[in-house]
Amino acid sequence: MDFKVGIIGCGSIAKLRHAPEYKANPFVKEIIFYDRNIERAENLATIFGGRVAETVDELLLDPSIQIISDCSSNENHHIFSTKALLNGKHVLCEKPISLTMEHANEIVEAQRKTGNKLMIDHNQRFTRAHQKAKEMIASKEFGNVLTFRTTFGHQGPEQWGVNKTRSTWFFKKDRSGLGVAGDLGIHKIDLLHYLLDDEVEQVSAFQGALDKVDENGKPIEVCDNIVCILKTKQGRLGTASFSWTYYGEEDNSTTLYCEKGIIKIYNSPENQIEVITKEGERINYKLESIQTNDNQTNTGVIDAFIDCVRLDKEPLVSGSDALSSLKVVLGIMEAAEHNCVIRI
Ligand SMILES: NC(=O)c1ccc[n+]([C@@H]2O[C@H](COP(=O)([O-])OP(=O)(O)OC[C@H]3O[C@@H](n4cnc5c(N)ncnc54)[C@H](O)[C@@H]3O)[C@@H](O)[C@H]2O)c1
Repeated sequence: MDFKVGIIGCGSIAKLRHAPEYKANPFVKEIIFYDRNIERAENLATIFGGRVAETVDELLLDPSIQIISDCSSNENHHIFSTKALLNGKHVLCEKPISLTMEHANEIVEAQRKTGNKLMIDHNQRFTRAHQKAKEMIASKEFGNVLTFRTTFGHQGPEQWGVNKTRSTWFFKKDRSGLGVAGDLGIHKIDLLHYLLDDEVEQVSAFQGALDKVDENGKPIEVCDNIVCILKTKQGRLGTASFSWTYYGEEDNSTTLYCEKGIIKIYNSPENQIEVITKEGERINYKLESIQTNDNQTNTGVIDAFIDCVRLDKEPLVSGSDALSSLKVVLGIMEAAEHNCVIRI
């Protein structure tokens, strides 16, 4: 079976991950690019082959296109992804699924109504080290996970997005919505849910725009840092820090403190997992490195999504998984805003 794929939004994530991974997939025969900035669509069509659509409806109403990647900025996902699902497309939607539960529910409802596939690009689930860590935790090799700490930070989206200036939409409240919490934080909340097979139930947090300024030199409207305390349904306690001001090097690490040892993930560039047992033994796993903004490798997300469509499989990240993570991130924002503990 060969697929025609439409990509909406031809910025950085489309250029660095979706388009190359669709191009490399043997079941994709054509990619059609759409962006309201047509030059961006033309640029990707030149690099990856394929054609350009001049309107979004040209993609959404074309019955020969089976799959849509929604790579638009956050405030549009509920519009494009919902319409695509209702028009019979299978949709891979970028994270965060939306900025509000109401909008996120529109997408998930459209999926339920149509039965088409919907996956949200919480790509942390797909990395080899995270997959291996999930196996270790599920097997209880090192006992139950008692506490954890996780972080995700880099030097900021004005170095990443297609608009590499301080006027980037990532810094605007109405478009990015949740700042670094919705950009990087939601990845790790989803990862914790996945690794622990548990859900964050109570949160507390502090946030701030500590360093980033907009095009007018004013502090940005959304947080560039947020530090959280989390409690899960099963009673696990942990901390999480998300930052757009880790200048010098990305940090994408998670440490799980278990009854019989410690599992460190992406703490060292040499060993993607390091285990230190209660007895002091060290076990290192060399798996592939995680993608960084400077080092893009195949995430496996597109191949997995094509397989879901082709083989009628359930996506590894469902709409309801994305709703759970968004709910936690919205709770974190509320906790930070009101200086309180929020029960999700
Ligand atoms: N999964 C990940 O690891 C990951 C990483 C980065 C970004 N993202 C997500 O991907 C999405 C896009 O981010 P990006 O980094 O590519 O941003 P970007 O600014 O580089 O690109 C966004 C593109 O969408 C286009 N666009 C925006 N609104 C549009 C509209 N209404 N109609 C048509 N085109 C429109 C813009 O013109 C731009 O070309 C965001 O939701 C972001 O959170 C996910």
